[in-house]
Amino acid sequence: MTTTGDSPGATSPATDGEAEDIILSTEGITKRFGAVVALRGVDMHLRRGEVLGLVGDNGAGKSTFVKIVTGFQRQDAGRIFVEREEVDFHSVTDARRAGIETVYQDLALVPQLTVYENLFLNRELTGLGRLGWLSRPKMRRLATEYLHDIRVSVPDIDAEVELLSGGQRQAIAVARATRQNAKILLLDEPLAAMGAKESTLIIDLVKDLSVNRGVSMIVIDHNYTHLFELCDRINVIQEGRVTVDTRVADTSIEELTELMVAEYRRQVREGQALLRA
Ligand SMILES: Nc1ncnc2c1ncn2[C@@H]1O[C@H](COP(=O)(O)OP(=O)(O)O)[C@@H](O)[C@H]1O
Ligand SMILES: [Mg+2]
Repeated sequence: MTTTGDSPGATSPATDGEAEDIILSTEGITKRFGAVVALRGVDMHLRRGEVLGLVGDNGAGKSTFVKIVTGFQRQDAGRIFVEREEVDFHSVTDARRAGIETVYQDLALVPQLTVYENLFLNRELTGLGRLGWLSRPKMRRLATEYLHDIRVSVPDIDAEVELLSGGQRQAIAVARATRQNAKILLLDEPLAAMGAKESTLIIDLVKDLSVNRGVSMIVIDHNYTHLFELCDRINVIQEGRVTVDTRVADTSIEELTELMVAEYRRQVREGQALLRA
């Protein structure tokens, strides 16, 4: 396990020979919300076809990082590269054009529409719930084919999404995000509030997208067991910085847990020190 600490470039994209495999990287991403510094120079990289897990305490900056890379928010400083080309996102649409997709926690599906209608919802016009110009039989056929391809089974493609389980809805949201050839998918706590069976459904889907469709992914989850099952590599974010970059094969759940506990104790100590001062 490598602790990146303050050594500059520890996670920089240009590590010889591997550079061509880097599909997404960031350098020095910084973000403030008033007095709060959410991100303090995040250097991160994602290899083609890789699943990278992101862990860290609540408030560490994980969601902010995802929002910036998916064009939902804009960084105050720092750079983003997709396939080594610098990109400049002003909107979610910009990020989508670069092949980056996400599934927000509210899922943004329309519960009263069917599974296949949701897959084809024109996302630039969400809220209006308008569908594209494709014929319904064609939409049904393409939706059935795609769900079959990525091994998502729903009871009925004509079922209204509100009748599905949480796991099935999440699967439809992920399917919609990846349908149009997303190269990079960022998932912020996709398993939150899901039972074991539902989690398995999503874990299998994520694995399948990675292994069989070569989608590169960043997944945020608090459950290390899930992450160890899913990920090739894990980054720990603490107080707006990447402090650990490790291959899953080089660490263990115990080691990561210890690290987080040590960090928590350090924060408590510093908090108490501040109180005494
Ligand atoms: N829109 C916002 N306005 C003000 N503060 C925010 C906003 N979004 C996030 N923050 C703050 O930034 C820090 C990082 O938050 P977040 O990225 O949500 O952390 P995480 O996802 O790791 O729990 C927190 O202190 C949070 O309160
Ligand atoms: Mg979060």
